[in-house]
Amino acid sequence: MFLTFEGGEGCGKSTQSRLLLQELCRRGIPAILTREPGGTVLGDKIRKILKIEQGMRIPPQTELFLFAASRAQLVTEVIRPALTEGKVVICDRFVHSTVAYQSCGRGLSQDMVEQINRQATQNLEPDLTVFLDMPSEQGLARKKQNPKDRFEKEDLFFHRRVRKGYLEMAAANPSRWLVVDAAGLSEERVFAVIREKIDSLLCPV
Ligand code: TMP
Repeated sequence: MFLTFEGGEGCGKSTQSRLLLQELCRRGIPAILTREPGGTVLGDKIRKILKIEQGMRIPPQTELFLFAASRAQLVTEVIRPALTEGKVVICDRFVHSTVAYQSCGRGLSQDMVEQINRQATQNLEPDLTVFLDMPSEQGLARKKQNPKDRFEKEDLFFHRRVRKGYLEMAAANPSRWLVVDAAGLSEERVFAVIREKIDSLLCPV
């Protein structure tokens, strides 16, 4: 099973994906947790280039290809082999981040982004995407680290377009998305909703 977590800045997806890994391990279900961009030696180098401001302008197209390069490496080196071994793979961000950020946020054509995504993943799609929804201003306010990274520095309108993009993708494919109100629920309640959904997938009645 391939599960992805998505959301805007500060939505808590890294915490929730870690909780899910711990829960699966506790039950003796073989599982791994990885993330994008990153998750491989090459991907982690790309992650630094993408996140940390280094005084060079990265145009949206270049950004798109850097995310795609990190993803192609991760799918080949980590995700596909783990799925072949029968493991549950949890990924903190995946293709839907690129649609939300590079298409809805930056304005690149959604068709092109989806085409590049398919190339990078060799058509691998998550069985379920958990979207942790939260108003953009609330998520950004949770990010305390300074200096802010290249994405956190974007204005509120950028982050609102990203959120809207996620909500539209989720609405278009409700059987493959779980939208959780990450602003209105406690961390424990958010995890309970996710656990219930995963249980229904692991042990369908
Ligand atoms: P994160 O580890 O906080 O999720 O940081 C990754 C950042 O990269 C986040 O701001 C979202 C952004 N991103 C994209 O813009 N496109 C992508 O395809 C991915 C995977 C992440």
